[in-house]
Amino acid sequence: MRFDREKLLAYYADEPGDISLGDIDLARIPSHVSIIMDGNGRWATKRGLDRAQGHVAGVDSLREAVTTSVRLGFDVLSVYAFSTENWRRPKLEVDLLMKLFAKTLVAELPLFHQENVRLRLFGDLEALPEETFRVFQRGLDETADHDGMTFALAVNYGSRAEIVRAVREIARLAAAGEIDPDAIDQDLFASKLYTAGLPDPDLLIRTSGELRLSNYFLYQLAYTEFYATDTLWPDFSRWDMLRAIRDFQGRSRRYGGV
Ligand code: IPE
Ligand code: IPE
Ligand code: MG
Repeated sequence: MRFDREKLLAYYADEPGDISLGDIDLARIPSHVSIIMDGNGRWATKRGLDRAQGHVAGVDSLREAVTTSVRLGFDVLSVYAFSTENWRRPKLEVDLLMKLFAKTLVAELPLFHQENVRLRLFGDLEALPEETFRVFQRGLDETADHDGMTFALAVNYGSRAEIVRAVREIARLAAAGEIDPDAIDQDLFASKLYTAGLPDPDLLIRTSGELRLSNYFLYQLAYTEFYATDTLWPDFSRWDMLRAIRDFQGRSRRYGGV
């Protein structure tokens, strides 16, 4: 948790009225915030546009969310960009999304360097188109030494597949005699998930009013606070992030205790 107070004040200067930086406690900023970015299609349809234009607009929101997260001093921002079930969409939309991921990452690498952001990717990347895979690899390589915020993009990610993959790997180690089945504990299991080494999310935001997980982080969200907003992802702004944090800070996290 590190933030530059001057930059943060300037970033949040233009107050909309219902919320201001003063409404949140900067000493209790969540460490890991995760977002299910939903509603791009509806945003476009509402405007008489093609769904693709909703995804393009969603990229602008994501860029702002990364900057907001750096300004506020999150340790980790993770976002759900494409699920293992999203392959069911029309090929044209899937192709557009894959191209958009590659194009956006190339365009945003300077921002990652400028803000010292490290990229992580969650999901089965091998199944992605070659160009997207290549660009992702480049993003990982070029930001590997950055030690500021971690930005994690879940692409071709499904939590059930992630869990099964972890089980398979642990079973393989056990079968090879490298681990004792009795030594398998939550730490070992968590170390085989894509999120290995990262703290569990403190706050999960889902946009567009849906109240479901859609196969996201089934294991990692055990004690995460949920925040749902009707705002569609392309409309989600730095102020919506503050609203989510204000809500989060009003919760009493008991972890089963009193
Ligand atoms: C989220 O927006 C982006 C992805 C899942 C890739 P949607 O495309 O799901 O938008 P809606 O839910 O149809 O409005
Ligand atoms: C969840 O959104 C996946 C992402 C945001 C990447 P969907 O739009 O795919 O979820 P459902 O189909 O409404 O559950
Ligand atoms: Mg959706």
